[in-house]
Formats: sequence, C-alpha cells, structure tokens
Amino acid sequence: MPSNRQIRFFLKPLVFLACTAPLAWIGLRVIGFGPSLGPNPVEVLQDEFGIWTLRLLLATLAMTPMRYALGKAWPIRFRRMLGLFAFSYATLHFANYLVLDQQFDWALILEDILDRPFITVGFVGLMLLVPLAITSTRGWQSRLGKRWIRLHKLVYPATILVCWHFWWQVKKDATEPLIYVGLLILLLGARLWHNRRGARVKTTGPTTS
Ligand code: HEM
Repeated sequence: MPSNRQIRFFLKPLVFLACTAPLAWIGLRVIGFGPSLGPNPVEVLQDEFGIWTLRLLLATLAMTPMRYALGKAWPIRFRRMLGLFAFSYATLHFANYLVLDQQFDWALILEDILDRPFITVGFVGLMLLVPLAITSTRGWQSRLGKRWIRLHKLVYPATILVCWHFWWQVKKDATEPLIYVGLLILLLGARLWHNRRGARVKTTGPTTS
C-alpha cells in the first residue's frame, strides 16, 4: 500500500499529469504539432473532449470497486481529482459545441437540446454533474453531511445518460460505445454485489466456523 507521502508527492501529481496529457496533446495538434485535426477540426475536438469526459467519469467510478478489491481506502483519495477532471473535459466539450460548432446561435442550440434526443440526454447528463462539481470541496462535504453522499449518487444517472448519448450519436459501428456501456455495467455491478453482500452479512451476522 502506498504511504501518505507517496500518494501526496508522487501518485497524485502523476494522476494529475495523466489527466492533463490528453488536453496538452489536443492543444499541440490545434497549434500544428502532431497529427492534423483533419478537414473537420471542430468535430474532432468535440469527439476528443467527449470521449475523455467519459473515460474520466468511468475512472472516477472505478475507485470504489478498486477499494473493495484491494481492501484499502487509498484509491478513494483520487476520486475527487478524477471527477473534477471529468467535469472540466465535459465543460470543454460543451464549450466547443456552443462556441465553435453552433457559434452562439442560441435559437439553434435550444432547438438542438429540445429536439435532438442524443443532445438532450448529453445535456441532462452534464447538468447532473454541475452540483457534484460545485459541492466537491471538503467544506461542502461537511456542510451537507449525509446529504452529500445522497447528492453524489447523481454520478450514476449522469454516467448512464452520457453513455446513452454516446451510443445514440454513433452512425455505423456501435462497438466503442458498447465497450463503455460494458465497463459501466461492470462498475455498477461491482457496487451492487458488494452492497448486497454487506447487507447479507449484516442480516445473517458473521459466519463462525
Ligand atoms: C458529461 C457530458 C457529456 C459526455 C460525457 C459526452 C460524451 C460524448 C462522446 C463520448 C461523444 C462521441 C465521441 C466520439 O465519437 O468519439 C460525444 C459526441 C458529441 N456530443 Fe457529447 N457528451 C456530453 C455532453 C454533451 C452536451 C451537453 C452536448 C451539447 C449540448 C454534447 C454534444 C455532442 C455532439 C454535438 C457530439 C458529436 C456528434 C457527432 O460527431 O456527430 N455532448 N459526446
């Protein structure tokens, strides 16, 4: 198990760097280093920010099952950072849509959100993440107490919605969204399994041999 110092001074900076690396790579491509963004750079940016949001959301959700698997609490210490990075990429994904894709055409944006189901679902997913990002600080956590835990359960419907958003916008091959849906099912299944097992142990009491 990593020590407190190793987590603070090595693992956390490493995870921070890993989370900023995709953004740095996209930035380099925008200014002309690395592979070109191709004939439709706005769509490439949209897709890159979208996929990294989803990956980071799933990484955030993976911390609790990892804690169960290892029997150690330290993976939880990465949850907040991963969640905030997921939200940052989601904000860039939405900003790219508002600024570069729709160029602040509010009528068109509203029409898209109301009339294109995959956009509606993505938008609702993003809105569910907003209160989680706002209340992610220790201050909010202690102010809200038990309600904080209940509020942060919103991450589950949010991730389900954005997986659906991904699946829905695919035109031909649905393999990639299916992989993400599979991962989400595994992560949620691990929690359910752990909670049911915990409940069973509570009702039947510890088994003695
Ligand atoms: C947390 C929230 C969201 C996540 C995780 C997310 C994720 C994704 C993913 C994974 C893709 C496909 C990337 C690919 O093809 O490789 C995508 C595409 C897209 N998303 Fe989102 N999205 C979110 C919210 C939104 C919102 C709020 C909007 C706009 C209101 C939006 C608009 C779009 C558009 C326009 C595309 C591109 C569709 C295309 O290429 O035809 N998304 N998103």
